[in-house]
Formats: sequence, C-alpha cells, structure tokens
Amino acid sequence: MLAEDLDTPFLMLDLDGLEDNLDRYQRYFDQHGIGLRPHIKTHKCLAVAHMQMSRGAIGITCQKLGEAEVMVAGGVDGDVLIPFNIIGKQKLDRLMSLTRIARRVTVAVDSEYTARGLSEAAKAAEAELGVIIELGMGGRCGVETAAGAAELAAVVDSLPGVELRGIMAMPSPPGSRPFFQETLALMDKSGLPHPIVSGGSTPGAFEAHEIPELTEYRAGEYPVGGAKHLQNGTHTLAQCALRVVMTVVSRPTETRAILDGGSKSLSACTMDADGRSIMGHIVEYPAANFNGASEEHGHVDVSACAAKPKIGGRVQVLPVHPCPTVNEHDEIVAVRQGRVEAIWPVHARGRIR
Ligand SMILES: Cc1ncc(COP(=O)(O)O)c(C=O)c1O
Repeated sequence: MLAEDLDTPFLMLDLDGLEDNLDRYQRYFDQHGIGLRPHIKTHKCLAVAHMQMSRGAIGITCQKLGEAEVMVAGGVDGDVLIPFNIIGKQKLDRLMSLTRIARRVTVAVDSEYTARGLSEAAKAAEAELGVIIELGMGGRCGVETAAGAAELAAVVDSLPGVELRGIMAMPSPPGSRPFFQETLALMDKSGLPHPIVSGGSTPGAFEAHEIPELTEYRAGEYPVGGAKHLQNGTHTLAQCALRVVMTVVSRPTETRAILDGGSKSLSACTMDADGRSIMGHIVEYPAANFNGASEEHGHVDVSACAAKPKIGGRVQVLPVHPCPTVNEHDEIVAVRQGRVEAIWPVHARGRIR
C-alpha cells in the first residue's frame, strides 16, 4: 500500500528518518559511555520502544505510571524510570504491581511526603523500589538547592522499603553541572549512594558529555524531531520523521488555505518562527504560515508562497511539539519511501494517570 492511498489526516512516521535518529543518538551516547534511557512519552508506541531497546538503550523513561504499565506489558525490557512524584493510594498500589512485573523500577521524588508514601507502600508490599532525587531547574518540580537535595537523599536512604539510587534533573544543560557536582559532593560526604545521575531533554542531548558525572540520559523527541528541532538544527528536514498528512479542503481567499487537520490532529502548540507564531511547518510550502487552527481545520496564510496550494492537494506538516501530536492519534503509519510498512497503534495514548 502507498501512503498516498490513505485517507487524511493521518500521522506518518518516516522509517528512514526514524532509524537515522535512533542510530545517531545511540551512537553518541555509546561513544561517551552514557546510558540512553529513551522517554517513551513522545511516541507511546511499543514498536518504537523495542527499536530503541534493540539499539542499546539501557531502559525506558515513562512520565506516567500508566505508560510504564503499557510498555512493560508489551515486553519492553523493564528497567523503568518514572521521573514523577507518585502520590496517593491508587497509584501506589499500581506502582507496587509494576515492581512485580518490571525488571527494575525507579521513581523520582522531590519531597519527604512523596518519599515516605513510597517507603510505606514498598515496605507493606515487600517490593523492590529505587528512588532518585529530582534537582529543580527552576521551572517545574525538583529540590532547588544542593543542600536540600542531599538532605532529602539522606531521608530516602534512611527509609525502609526503598533504595536510594541517585539524582536527576530536567533539563540538564552544561551550565547545570555545578548543581550536580555540589549535590554529589554533599552526598559523598554523607556516604550516600548515587549509581544513577540522570540528565535529560533532546535539545541538549549532544552536550551531555559536558557533564561527565552523568551516567544516563533521558531523551524523548530525538527519534522524530519536529518544527522546533528543524529550527534549532538538531534535525534536518529528512530527520523530522513525524508528519501529519493533511488535505487542502478550502481556499476561501487568495491568501488563505484551509487544511483538514486542526488542533485535534496537530495539537494546539505554537512556536515563534521569524517573529510569527506558527502551529506547524508545511514541508511542501515552507513559506506558508500555519498560523492558527480550529479543532478540525488548519488555517494557513499562503500569501508568501510563490506557487499556492490547490484544493485537493496534500501536504505534510511537521508538528511544533511531537508528543501531544502523537497523543491525538490512534495509529502511526510507518512509511518507507512512500510505501506503508506498518500501521502501529499508539499503545499508551491517553495514559495520563
Ligand atoms: C523528566 C523528563 N525527562 C526527559 C524528557 C525528554 O525531553 P525531550 O522531550 O526534550 O527529549 C522530558 C520531557 O518532557 C521530561 O519531562
């Protein structure tokens, strides 16, 4: 079957681009002796996770417990890191069940509250559970001082049922090295173990070696790229492997084209491109400005395009943020040189708990 025979909109993954990305990032981390622990929240798909593992990934990162359950049940080698504060009886019960089927489970904490909850649950369930301390980089979760992180590490180390395994940060630009170093020095002083020192995020992936303390790295978007990665230069157009294929359904004015995919195909994420706010990059019409969307319509200003799209024509759109885009779709169409090689379910779609 050819991709052009499929109805639109659909989510297409170019296998040549995907494999190129999987290989080049794995090669970099192998060269630097840093474990690659892919974050599966980007693709949520067992097939891609298995491809990552078979290339040498040390395990997986799952933002949510529900994603981890899907991946482990799907046979992805279960060394799982969940970099999320797991709170409440419902989730703690599920986490304990996960520890029985996964090879190894580690979760991140940034408070004594979370750590004590994990400890009580693991002790009662006689489970084996690792804990790492999240360092706060100022934007989201995490302990924001080295002293505070080392203090929390000491608490975790003293708790029954859990094993202190180290620290993590998100993101981890080279400038964050002193924070890692200071925390590790304080932990060393107190004899606290830290076999895991985990950095993360695709944009800074090729700078990971500038923090030699890192033992592993969590990258999510690297297999597929997107409009932001094209802009940043980490991915060429061919390496931006994930595209939403859409049809031009209306040309209401000389300057406007309407596509059959809007925020429910692409997500509502926007980015700045040369002072414009865009929702996607149209491969066939790079000068077009995908400047808005309703749920099922993509709104494109084509005034800067020399040749303008026609009704019935198809386009490939690079999403601004691939992760929520994937979560809008039931299936990923895996394509090589225009031929459909597989149609994969987005297995962990919607697993937000
Ligand atoms: C904790 C954590 N680690 C790693 C990543 C991966 O970052 P990226 O999607 O830039 O590869 C994310 C992304 O949200 C994250 O939240």
